[in-house]
Amino acid sequence: MTTAPLPAGATEAPLRWSDALLLGFAPMDRCHAEFVDVVAALQAAPDAELPARLAAVRAHLQSHFAQEDEWMTATGFPARECHVGEHAAVLASVAQVEVLLSRGDTATCRRLADELARWFPGHADVMDAALAHWMCKRRHGGKPLVFRRSLGAGGQPPAPSSKPPSIPR
Ligand SMILES: [Fe+2]
Ligand SMILES: [Fe+2]
Repeated sequence: MTTAPLPAGATEAPLRWSDALLLGFAPMDRCHAEFVDVVAALQAAPDAELPARLAAVRAHLQSHFAQEDEWMTATGFPARECHVGEHAAVLASVAQVEVLLSRGDTATCRRLADELARWFPGHADVMDAALAHWMCKRRHGGKPLVFRRSLGAGGQPPAPSSKPPSIPR
C-alpha cells in the first residue's frame, strides 16, 4: 500500500477510521466517523488550506460536543461534569489556535491536529463509551453490541492520550 506524502510541516500520518473506534450507539458512531474525516483533512492540508480545515474542525466539534452534552443533560447522565469539561477544554484550545493561525502560525495548527488525533481514541474509549452504554441502556434496555471487523496490521487507531489537546505557551 502506498501513502500520500505528508504536507510540509506535518509530522504524522492522518488519523484513520478503525472499527476499534466503534462504540455501538449509532448516532455517536456516525459523529465520530465525521470527526476522523475532518481531523484527517486538517492533518493532510497544505498550509493555504489550514484556516478552512481548522474552521471545519471547529464547526464539527461544536456540533459533536453539543449533541453529547445534550444527551447527558436530557438523560441525567451521572458523570456529566467531567465529560463536558473536557469538551470545553478542547474547544478552548481550538479557538486559541485559530487566533494563532490567523497570525501565520501553521506549526501550532499542525500540532493541534496531531494532538486531536492522539486525544480522541482515549476520550472515545472512556468518556464517550460510558455515555454510549448509558444511552443504549436507556433506549434499548442493555449495553450495546459492537460488531468489529478484524483489524489487520495498521488497523489500530493511534495510541490514546489521556489529556485533552492543549497548545504551547
Ligand atoms: Fe464524542
Ligand atoms: Fe465526548
